[in-house]
Amino acid sequence: MPSLENKRIILGVTGSIAAIKAPAVARELVRAGASVTCVATDGALQFTTAEELSEASGQPVIISIFSGQEHHPPAPSSSQRRGSDVWHVHLARSADAMLIAPCSASAIGMLRTGIYDNAVTLVAASLPKGTPLVIVPAMDEDMWLQAAVQENLAWLKRHGVFVIEPVVGKLASGLTGMGRMPEPEDIVEKFARIVAPASSPVSGSANGEPAGTPALQGKRILITGGPTYEPIDAVRFIGNRSSGKMAAALAIESKHMGADVTLILGPTTPFPLLEKEGVSLRTVGTAEEMLQAVNAETATADIIIMSAAVADFAPEHASEGKMKKGAGETMTLTLKKTPDILAEISKSKRPDQIIVGFALEKGDEAEDYARKKLLEKNLDMIVMNNIADEGAGFGYDTNKITIFTKSGERIALPLMSKEQCAKEILNRITILP
Ligand code: CTP
Repeated sequence: MPSLENKRIILGVTGSIAAIKAPAVARELVRAGASVTCVATDGALQFTTAEELSEASGQPVIISIFSGQEHHPPAPSSSQRRGSDVWHVHLARSADAMLIAPCSASAIGMLRTGIYDNAVTLVAASLPKGTPLVIVPAMDEDMWLQAAVQENLAWLKRHGVFVIEPVVGKLASGLTGMGRMPEPEDIVEKFARIVAPASSPVSGSANGEPAGTPALQGKRILITGGPTYEPIDAVRFIGNRSSGKMAAALAIESKHMGADVTLILGPTTPFPLLEKEGVSLRTVGTAEEMLQAVNAETATADIIIMSAAVADFAPEHASEGKMKKGAGETMTLTLKKTPDILAEISKSKRPDQIIVGFALEKGDEAEDYARKKLLEKNLDMIVMNNIADEGAGFGYDTNKITIFTKSGERIALPLMSKEQCAKEILNRITILP
């Protein structure tokens, strides 16, 4: 698990019976190295107490939105949280991330509709852009299945809220079903992967034990990258400007995160770093060759990332030698569709396998096209870049990506280096439900 050392975390607790586990969540966060401030609603305090939360976090607990009433004794020493009508702004701005566990159906509805009249939703609303908000819904199965709850969650995901999904298990009603809050260790494990860069070096703990294992340890990752060249004759081809830089960054970051990585790369300039980092490299020319190479690796891959810009069409027949120009003013080339490698491998996707596609799109409908490819190619995630974005895509060292997941998340990221993009993509893969 990535370390939460030096991270300032706000733990919001709302009125679900699972709030009885909130002190254990606070303890796990502290154990992972975080400094934890608990904020609880009135509803939460029906199931746990400010004393328990305070004892678990080692800090005073905020239980009201009104300054002067919000703290459970002992009074906080930090001025950021007392004596100010805007304590919530200061608290939110000082945090690295906020976790709401459990997040009740009502709290989900309030976050979606902008109702901020309790301490938890008020603090969540005050988080600056870019500070992750992670919620852990917990409720009875029938509530979980309500259209309102599901629509609210889908909306929140689309607007960048991370959701750690509930699990099937024994519920407060005594029934067994979907809606149970995961165990505190599992919550904190997933939360840490969101908040802390998973590829950060593994640091030693005070007793000399390793603080965690790299997030992709033991995983086999297959990545494709670069263009494909479809021969017209011995010297000419149909290709595109893909540089393979995004794929190389993904391969190297995957390696840093502990994975066993195979990169199948189309014709592009060499990346000497790949071999140094221990990436197993296979070079191919055409879409057909890429398909053969991918087919040979899919059975043993846990995660497949198809970032190659595969040519969609190839000449029906490649001429031998060099074609002569001839006397005519025009020439006709008959093209045939290349195999859609991603669609092919998705057909035999194993339930435990994760498949990620890329989509280079343009125009107002870019996101619709990307979502359509996510569905049609049976993917777990698709990474879209818009050809209209300055500094993004083929040839650049930077990229501006939007990630869509099968469960409805939409994460729009700013322009960043391809290495940072790779980290974001891989971190998101590690927390897919
Ligand atoms: N892809 C593939 N084989 C192809 C074409 C595309 O495996 N013959 C993969 C790409 O690697 C990418 C995803 O499919 O992960 C989407 O590729 P893209 O070129 O954006 O979409 P297409 O399916 O080719 O559709 P269109 O060109 O019409 O947008």
